[in-house]
Order: sequence, then structure tokens, then C-alpha cells
Amino acid sequence: MVIKTDILIIGSGAAGLTAAIELSDSFKITVISKNQIIDSSTWYAQGGIAAVLAEEDSTHSHIEDTLKVGDGLCDEKAVEFCIENGKEAIQWLQNNGVVFTKKNNASDLHLTQEGGHSFRRVVHAADATGREVSDSLAGKVLKNKNIKILENHLAVDLIVKNNKCLGAYVFNKNKENVLSISAGAIILATGGASKAYLYTSNPDGASGDGYALAWRAGCRLENMEFNQFHPTCLFHPDAKSFLISEALRGEGAILKTTSGIPFMRKYNSKADLAPRDIVARSIDNEMKVSGKDNVLLDISHKPSKEIKNSFPSIYKKCLEYGFDITKSPIPVVPAAHYTCGGILTDLKGQTDIKSLYAIGETSSTGLHGANRMASNSLLECVVFAKAAAQDIKENFSNNGKSIPEWDNSKVIKAGENILINHNWDASRRLMWNYVGIVRSNDRLKKAKDKMKLIKNEVQEFYKNFEVTSDFLELRNLVQVSELIIDSAIKRKESRGLHYNIDYPKKLKKASSTIISPK
Ligand code: FAD
Ligand code: SIN
Repeated sequence: MVIKTDILIIGSGAAGLTAAIELSDSFKITVISKNQIIDSSTWYAQGGIAAVLAEEDSTHSHIEDTLKVGDGLCDEKAVEFCIENGKEAIQWLQNNGVVFTKKNNASDLHLTQEGGHSFRRVVHAADATGREVSDSLAGKVLKNKNIKILENHLAVDLIVKNNKCLGAYVFNKNKENVLSISAGAIILATGGASKAYLYTSNPDGASGDGYALAWRAGCRLENMEFNQFHPTCLFHPDAKSFLISEALRGEGAILKTTSGIPFMRKYNSKADLAPRDIVARSIDNEMKVSGKDNVLLDISHKPSKEIKNSFPSIYKKCLEYGFDITKSPIPVVPAAHYTCGGILTDLKGQTDIKSLYAIGETSSTGLHGANRMASNSLLECVVFAKAAAQDIKENFSNNGKSIPEWDNSKVIKAGENILINHNWDASRRLMWNYVGIVRSNDRLKKAKDKMKLIKNEVQEFYKNFEVTSDFLELRNLVQVSELIIDSAIKRKESRGLHYNIDYPKKLKKASSTIISPK
């Protein structure tokens, strides 16, 4: 079956929903989402959104902080563009129903602080900012007559002819068939790839589909080796990926060894508020030295009422696992959190392929460089989604071409799922053990060889059997893992989030890793 739409948006996180709202006054939009509309990393965001709102702060300072954390690899134009549009992005979210936490008895927004930021500049909705953003934007989109939402629809591959994107093949998870969707412009807003790692703060959907789709279609990717590990996820066998926001450290929480000794000051003068790469590596080192499975994060010295008011969701969740954070420290470990690199775009989200845009975490706009500063990503989602929407409005034309239907004639139904389950686990474990926070030439080479074997099995399966959603996610996960390994092998230095013990120094000249499928 072929469906026609003006604009096809793949993904319903902050980036996809912002683009849909912005475009809905001019076009008929179809948004596809592989699970429910609010099932995205966006919904789980805690700390907030960085923007310059305090009197003592300045865009100059926010730009400087971002460049510093990005460790020489940010594109200054992208940084300036994003940060100069920060205040307007917050206003846009408020206009679309997002309610942020205010200062006591005042109309001003309350600002918190996170690692790398020189001032309080993180706008938030208590400790569940993403839930507020996602629920509000999804509510708007669901009421909009020009926007059609197809939940449980997973993009399989892009349809490209003569370097122009004409649409996508999309797997309907309920009916288990593949549709062709034809559109004048296609936006990838598929989020990150942190699920490539065994331990992650991300929801299950973060399997890197957008990177794999764009790669197979012919787009270049940039800086895929820079996967950010969040320093503090709750350590508990039953707590799946629960993040303990950096905002706790912004409000005074201290990292300690399991014997209760604070350790961050010996690694960096900013101590607990050092950039994330430094904090994650310091924790990794403390765990290796002590042989323990976790470190502790302690905010119990703060007044109990203040903790409960500022972090109601974290307080409640920790209590469910037996930790009263007002009385005792929280056991924490680092986990894969954010994909800093991505599909190479310009400042309007345009990729290498005509009519194909990439926005949000799946893109590489140049904002993050070698390391993303906390709370800059939701900002990037809104600013670049608006920029892409504007570009589409100015340059839209219907593709006018017919697109082929999905060919299912040469494959049969698979009899068993063991290949999928086994390789899903094998690939993620391999990435965690061999391509994690600290890397080496030997481990990267072994990872490449082992991943190749997994990829061969996956490709063989694809040739012979009908697709399922689990298989399609595995296919993308393995593809993106290979791209992360290849990019990590290319970088002959340690910079930002990429640390290789065989090249511990930073090269004088900073350059991006660009990989091309052609
Ligand atoms: P997402 O929000 O991940 O949305 C991706 C969408 O694409 C989903 O709807 C998904 O289902 C869909 N999708 C993916 N593949 C396909 C496919 N093949 N077909 C169809 N649909 C598909 N950032 C901040 O700035 N501040 C924070 O405080 C913060 N806290 C965070 C806390 C947690 C626990 C996590 C996980 C992330 C946090 N981040 C934070 C990062 C931030 O949330 C993400 O970078 C951002 O939300 C990404 O938005 P997005 O729209 O690009 O992608
Ligand atoms: C957090 O709340 O610590 C996450 C912030 C981010 O990833 O930007």
C-alpha cells in the first residue's frame, strides 16, 4: 500500500513534535512513531533545558561553556545559532503549553545548574522536565487536524532516487506489513543510539535507527565515537536505567566512594560539577581501584523538605528501591546516555540527500563537538526543528514521483527468534566491554572483528526472512555499533568523551571524524 503526505516526520520526541507543530499551518503532516507517541528519550529527560535567562548570565558565557565542554570540536556557528535562539525556544515551549517551575512566589522561572555551566541557566519542570515537554507537545499534536499520528509504525528504510528522498518503507507493528509512504520532505527525528550499550539511561527505542537508515541511504555521519556516559544512574538490580539527574549535584550533592570519602576534587577543580566525561571517567577509575560495583551520590546533608520539593520523582523512585535520599546516599554507576555525533546536517537540518532532514539527537549539527554540555540537547531539538521547518516552508515541492512498493516475494516467515535475542545481547555486551568509557586499540580491533560476525548473521537473516520490529531494531543497532567502532578506530587521540589508553594525549589540531557510505 502507498500513502501520500506532504511531510513525513519519523519520530515523536521533542524534535519531531516541534517540527510537526511548526509545519502544521502550511502542510498535511504524517508523524510515525515506533511505539506510543510519548515513548521517547524526551519523556525521560529530568534536569531541564539550558537557556540564558538570569541577569548575571550572558549568551557569550553559554557559548564559551559549550565550546569548552565540546573540547575543540564544536562548530562555532552552530553553537552561536543554537544559544542565541535559546530564550525564544523556551518562550515557544511555554506558548505551546509547557509549564516550567517558577521561583518562590514570583513569575520568573527557577533556574538550576549542571556540570560545565558557569551560571544557573537550566529551566526545568521539577525533576521531570521531559515528561512535561512531551505530554504538552503530544497533547497539541493529537488535537491538530493537519497532523496524522501513526503509532506502532517503524521506519525500515528511506526511499531515495537520484540523491533525492521520496519517502520511506514503514513497518506496521500491529498488522505486521510494510507500507510505502511518499512525501515531499522527510524528517528524521529518531533520537539516539545509547541502546547500543548494555547499560543505558535510555528507553528501549534508542536503537539508533535514524543513523542506520541515513547511512544505508547514502548520508555521511560525523563524530560517532563520542557516546556520552551519564555519571549517575541508580545502581540496583531491579532498577532498569533510572537516571539520577545531574541537577542533584547542581544543588549540592557530592560523589563519594563506598567508604564515604568525597573524590571529585582530586580529579578536577570544578569537583562534582566538572563536565560529564571527566566525572564518568573519575567514577570508572574509582570503581576499578576499589573493585566495587558502584560509588555513592550523597545529598542527605541538605534539608529534607528542599530535597523532596526539588526532586519529587527521584525521591519517590529511590524510596521504591529502599533508598531514602534525604537520609542516606544513593548507589550510582555511569551508563550510556547520549549520542553526540550523528547524521551530518547544516544549520537547517538538511542532510546530504535532497528533501531529507535530520533533527534532534540523531543529527550532528556541530553543537556538541566531542562532548555535550548538560541540558543543551532539548534546546537543540527545539531550535533546529524550527529551523528545518522554516527551510521546508521556503523550499517545499511535491516529489511528484511514484515510489515502489515493498517486495516481500523472496522471503519466508522466520521459524524462531533465537538469532535476534542472542545477537541483541551479544552486541550490547560487546560494546559495553570493548567500546566503553575507556578504550584501547586492542579492544577496538577485537570489537570490530566480533561485530562483523554478528553483522554477517543479521544480513543473512534479512535476505531470507520476513522482517519483524525486533529484527529491524537489531539490524540498526548492529549497523550503528559498527559505525561507532569504525569512528573510534579512526581517532588517534583522546578528546572529550573518547579516551583511548594507547593515545592518551590530545592532538594539537582538532578535526571531526566524518564517515561516508560511498
Ligand atoms: P527522542 O526523544 O528519543 O525521540 C525519538 C523518537 O523517534 C521516538 O518517538 C521513537 O519512538 C522514534 N523512533 C526511533 N526510531 C524510529 C523508527 N525507526 N521508526 C519510527 N519511529 C522511530 N537532555 C536535556 O537537554 N536535558 C535533560 O534534562 C535531559 N535528561 C535526560 C534524561 C534521560 C533519562 C535521557 C534518556 C535523556 C536525557 N536528555 C536530556 C537527552 C534528551 O532527552 C534527548 O537528547 C532528546 O530528548 C532527544 O529528543 P529527540 O526528539 O531527538 O529524540
Ligand atoms: C540530567 O538531568 O542529569 C540529564 C541532563 C542531560 O542529559 O542533559
